[in-house]
Amino acid sequence: MEKITSLAKRRGFVYQSSEIYGGQNGAWDYGPLGVELKNRIAGAWWKEMTRLHDNIVGLDAAILMHPRTWEASGHVENFTDPLVDCKKCKSRFRADQIPQENLTAKKCPDCGGELTDTRKFNLMFKTHIGPAEDTASIIYLRPETAQGIYVNYKNIIQSNRMKIPFGIAQIGKAFRNEIVTKNFIFRTCEFEQMEMQYFVKPGTDEEWFAEWRKQRWAYYEKLGIKMDHLRWHQHGPDELAHYAKDAYDIEYLFPMGWRELEGVHNRTDYDLGRHTQFSGKDLQYIDQDNNNERYIPYIIETSAGLTRNLLMIFCDAYDEEQVAEKGNDDDWRTVLRFHPDLAPVTVAILPLMKKDGLAELAQDIRAELKEDYATDYDQAGAIGRRYRRQDEAGTPFCVTVDYQSKEDGTVTLRFRDSMEQVRVPKAELSARIRQEIKAYKRTK
Ligand code: GAP
Repeated sequence: MEKITSLAKRRGFVYQSSEIYGGQNGAWDYGPLGVELKNRIAGAWWKEMTRLHDNIVGLDAAILMHPRTWEASGHVENFTDPLVDCKKCKSRFRADQIPQENLTAKKCPDCGGELTDTRKFNLMFKTHIGPAEDTASIIYLRPETAQGIYVNYKNIIQSNRMKIPFGIAQIGKAFRNEIVTKNFIFRTCEFEQMEMQYFVKPGTDEEWFAEWRKQRWAYYEKLGIKMDHLRWHQHGPDELAHYAKDAYDIEYLFPMGWRELEGVHNRTDYDLGRHTQFSGKDLQYIDQDNNNERYIPYIIETSAGLTRNLLMIFCDAYDEEQVAEKGNDDDWRTVLRFHPDLAPVTVAILPLMKKDGLAELAQDIRAELKEDYATDYDQAGAIGRRYRRQDEAGTPFCVTVDYQSKEDGTVTLRFRDSMEQVRVPKAELSARIRQEIKAYKRTK
């Protein structure tokens, strides 16, 4: 994880938030390559969940919601972690994450000092809206994006004439006052989620639950993730969230071990039932194709962390490879083997020399490719070093412009994973790259 963190910072993927003030725990900033990578991961998910499904539509709901939302959802009452503090060293722990013997003996696992009693700690960030800071002005930063979907479900049925089964997808920020935020961007206080809520007829929920598990697994396969680094974990009765009848996590083998990446939950009619009760609004679905049958739909949820997906994709892509080069047999390269659809830069254009018109020709090629791809241009230093820099950024294709390019209009196209090079007429470059992206299969 140290290597990943340091590469992420060095190459401008992720920086610590407010670093010049000593950093802000639980918050991170996404630099030039990081924001591109994050946008692409979000784009891939959005395409998968909306464009490829005729019956799933998108939504972008506000982060600030009516505070009754969180009473109805159960978060005010139930969204808590058990917490203990050390009276001596002031460290704070989640009671369920320290050894039982320490808890029983009330002994700090760090310094041996005395621990406080366990108390419930609500993870929602609470603030005030408007000029008065009283109980009437309390408002929460949303701890999950899902509730914005539930409160809009009737609006969407009406405006878009949706028929069950149908889904609503959303990507957005969520906030949790996490007690433990180690492991880089894995668990943070401010993060992004990619959630899809699928509304189904009661009685069909288990079938759809199985179907969505299948689809979410296939999605990661399509992204070229190492499938032996993924596994399912079914929640036991003591792990189930207050809203769930059944839940499976997709876990990934991160450098610190197997950890949750995404959850698929059968939330039953819990959420819509509670919103009916708390809002007094009728949230039943009316099935016009079935004698106006009325029911509260069941909800199957797929809930992935966008920022956690970024960490997973970064870890999964990270590789160090020994590459034999002329007279330099022990040369190593660090390479990020991102799927070309996700790589922050798709193609880098490199003139072999700055002089003799090669730089100008390379700039012209870049100007043409810019319309179709995220490009980079680099003319500084030896060509081998420039390839290494692009490998480290995960750029799948490099185009090198050399003296032959001036004569016959061809350039070399270099592939990141195999480091092979082919000569391609520059007029065919864009189409060739498109073809290579479509045919991409991860081999290493
Ligand atoms: N709407 C259901 C829900 O929020 P969750 O299991 O609490 O379920 C879903 O969260 C996903 O959101 C997790 O699988 C994880 O990827 C991401 N996530 C949750 N808490 C996070 C945190 N503190 N930092 C980063 N990602 C987080």
